[in-house]
Amino acid sequence: MAIVAPSLLAADFLHLQTEVEMVNESAADWLHLDVMDGQFVPNISFGPMVIEFVKKVTKKVCDVHLMIEEPSRYFEQFKNAGADHINIHIETCPRLHQDIQQIKAMGLKAGVAINPHNPASLLSDIIADVDIVLVMSVNPGFGGQKFIPNILNKIREIKKLIAEKGSHALINIDGGVTLDNAAEITGAGADVLVAGSTVFGAKDPLEAIRLLKKA
Ligand code: DX5
Ligand code: ZN
Repeated sequence: MAIVAPSLLAADFLHLQTEVEMVNESAADWLHLDVMDGQFVPNISFGPMVIEFVKKVTKKVCDVHLMIEEPSRYFEQFKNAGADHINIHIETCPRLHQDIQQIKAMGLKAGVAINPHNPASLLSDIIADVDIVLVMSVNPGFGGQKFIPNILNKIREIKKLIAEKGSHALINIDGGVTLDNAAEITGAGADVLVAGSTVFGAKDPLEAIRLLKKA
C-alpha cells in the first residue's frame, strides 16, 4: 500500500477547513504543503501562517515542501507552525548536509527534493542522511502538470542507491500523479504519492485517495 499525501495546493482555499477535514476523513497518510517564494519557482503560494491554521484542524502528518531560496532561514518558523517533515531542494542548499542535520536536530523528519533535470547520482553522498527523497516529476511551481515519463528510470536508480548506501529514505513522487500512472510509479519503487489535482479535482476525493493507496 502506498503512502498517500494529498497536496493542499489544489484545494479550494475559500473552504480550507472543509478541505482539510475531508483529508482527515480519508485514507490519506500525510498532508503535503507546498511553500513557494516566487524566486526559486515562478509561483507564490503560502507560508507558515497558513500552515499554522491548517495544523489546528489536520489529523495527518504535515509534509512541508519548501520551494524557496535559503530555506534554513525559515526552519524554526515552519517547525513552530506545525511541520512534521521539512523537504528542502538540493538546488537551493549549498550546505545541504548541514541543513539536513539542522532539520533532524529539531526533531523533524528531513527530506531532500530534486528537480527533474538533476540525476539520481547527485544524491549519492546525502541519501544515507535523509528520511525522504522528494522526486519532482514535474518542474516545481504549479499543480496540474503532466508527469515526466523519464522519472520512472530515476525512481529505479534512487531505489538502487538507497540499497547500496544503507539508507532508510522513503521515495516520494511529486507532480502529475494520476489514477492512471500511480501503479507504474509505485511499481518503479516509489513509497509515497503526492497528489494535488487528482485528489482535490476529483468528483469523489475520498475514492481517489482510496484508489491511490491501492496503487
Ligand atoms: C508542484 C508541487 C506539487 C503540486 C502537485 O510544484 O510541488 O506538490 O501540488 O500537483 P499535482 O498533483 O496537481 O501535479
Ligand atoms: Zn510539492
